[in-house]
Amino acid sequence: MSLFITFEGGEGSGKSVQAKALFRRLSELAVPALLTHEPGGTPFGERLGHWLKWAQDAYISPLTELMLFNASRAQLVAEVIQPNLKSGKAVICDRYADSTTVYQGYGRELDLAMVKATNKAATQGLKPDLTILLDIAVEEGLARKVARKQDRFEQETTAFHHKVREGYLELAAAEPRRWLVVDASQSRRKIADIIWQRVSRLLAKGKNDKKPNLKIGKQFEAG
Ligand code: TMP
Repeated sequence: MSLFITFEGGEGSGKSVQAKALFRRLSELAVPALLTHEPGGTPFGERLGHWLKWAQDAYISPLTELMLFNASRAQLVAEVIQPNLKSGKAVICDRYADSTTVYQGYGRELDLAMVKATNKAATQGLKPDLTILLDIAVEEGLARKVARKQDRFEQETTAFHHKVREGYLELAAAEPRRWLVVDASQSRRKIADIIWQRVSRLLAKGKNDKKPNLKIGKQFEAG
């Protein structure tokens, strides 16, 4: 059964750990699944992602960021996400278009309508069935990351990360059926259980539905 699940969250929210845990759980239950991530997930996207995260010696404007994240995304959707959903897999993506809406829209303050329109073009309107937001206080998330080398976004001001968090919470409030907001200060196991409750319900619903729970090609309005 095809199912498209995305993970979102600010720095240090633990979303990658939870995305991997969900993938493992599905695999253990023999549910065909694929785990991918943004920026990257394709050979070309990985190169773009590296520049976007680590270019220290070159200025990247907010508009260029918007375009490059979406170039990586367009490639990922066409090369990986769409084909795997079509073959009936559950696709888990660590970050997706909502990251651009909050980081480049709310964080960098690009025009939100333009950001959403660009996202929509890159995704061909493909919207997740479920988006899991690992929500954590900005200071707590950043404190989890101090030990290692910081990328361009982790080096941003606390004010930037506050705008990102507020952006996420606004998006989630606007579309409560698509978003599951989880308090990321809880234990890993507790968070994984909350996520599994929702995902297992979706899987059961998909099995009972006569039509597969497939949204490929469905246009998404919210971006
Ligand atoms: P991560 O690998 O830690 O998730 O890092 C990716 C960074 O890139 C993270 O700080 C968020 C940022 N980002 C954007 O600004 N816009 C985007 O569209 C995506 C996918 C990520």
